[in-house]
Amino acid sequence: MKDHNDLFLRACRGERGSRPPVWLMRQAGRYLPEYREVRKKVDFLTLCRTPELAAQVTLQPIDRLGVDAAILFSDILVPAPAMGLNLDFNPGPVVDPPVRTADDVKHLVVPEIEAEVPFVYETIRILRRELAGRVPLIGFAAAPFTLGAYLVEGKGSRTFGHWKRMLYAAPELAHALLDKTTLTTIRYLVAQVRAGAQAIQLFDTWAGLVSAEDYATFSLPYVKRVIAAVAAEGVPTIYFALDAAHAASLVATCGADVLGADWRSRLSGAHPLQGNLDPCVLLADVATVRRRTLAMLEDGEGLPGHIANLGHGILPETPVDNAIAFVETVKSFTI
Ligand code: CP3
Repeated sequence: MKDHNDLFLRACRGERGSRPPVWLMRQAGRYLPEYREVRKKVDFLTLCRTPELAAQVTLQPIDRLGVDAAILFSDILVPAPAMGLNLDFNPGPVVDPPVRTADDVKHLVVPEIEAEVPFVYETIRILRRELAGRVPLIGFAAAPFTLGAYLVEGKGSRTFGHWKRMLYAAPELAHALLDKTTLTTIRYLVAQVRAGAQAIQLFDTWAGLVSAEDYATFSLPYVKRVIAAVAAEGVPTIYFALDAAHAASLVATCGADVLGADWRSRLSGAHPLQGNLDPCVLLADVATVRRRTLAMLEDGEGLPGHIANLGHGILPETPVDNAIAFVETVKSFTI
């Protein structure tokens, strides 16, 4: 099916259209009253596992904000139970017990993913039908390093000390685990594309935890494998490594069509970029949102392709009117 709005997919290929496409990381979520309404009735994991509801909340920001792409409603930890782990959300992910020992890693399953998380693929099929070409649908997963960080740490953390201890004291164990998260992620994403996802974003939220050298050892090689496998399915790939400017020259070799940029960096270079307004700008007033969004768009004018977005996920306390002002400012910008 042809997309009526192909600004996003064209920017992924490095083409400059009449204006940059725009969407927001975490665009379906708690800042939207209609999302909170749905969440009153079901917990977060039930929402992810109920295709009709997951599709409904995926579409909420398309209707409310008028963004140029939809992103599957799910979470980066959704594959964890398929690997044999217990997962809960409170509100962030909790893996209990976490993966700590050689035995734990040995017992991790590389699952037949379509049988384990059929709801993901059913949600994608519903969405392609309901979107009917209005905007393209993005699928996603965690990068193997970031998935590994949660599986070993068991929850979010400021330091990720358990994960780093494994990287530094038992690197061969970390590599064995990363091999399993990589194989799982490849299966998970290839099946998303085959179900109808038209682009794939890989979130490496914790890439910035380690030095450039350790990033090159523990994240980049696995990202390259995932990107190559997804690209072979014929869809564009976006790789978002948060807070990884110190490893920018390494990140640029990952093979993705588009690189995510957080708000710390300028929008420059030879790659199509996605980003990068500080999500906290959307906590200010509408005039500030407009002014800072315009400055970001002007910064991106020299790029081979720019997808306007935030530099990280939208915050739950964001006023909806500010999210609308962000999208409207991009849509009224002509190159
Ligand atoms: O972008 C979208 O709208 C699609 C949905 C999406 C969610 N999580 C839904 C969600 C996506 C793409 C994610 C990715 C994700 N999940 C990341 C990578 C992006 C990033 O922000 O760095 C990470 C690190 C997670 C892990 C996670 N899930 C955390 C830390 C939390 C809790 C705190 C928080 O930031 O919201 C979640 C829960 C979660 N995932 C919610 C949503 C809408 C809130 C759950 C609720 O309704 O209570």
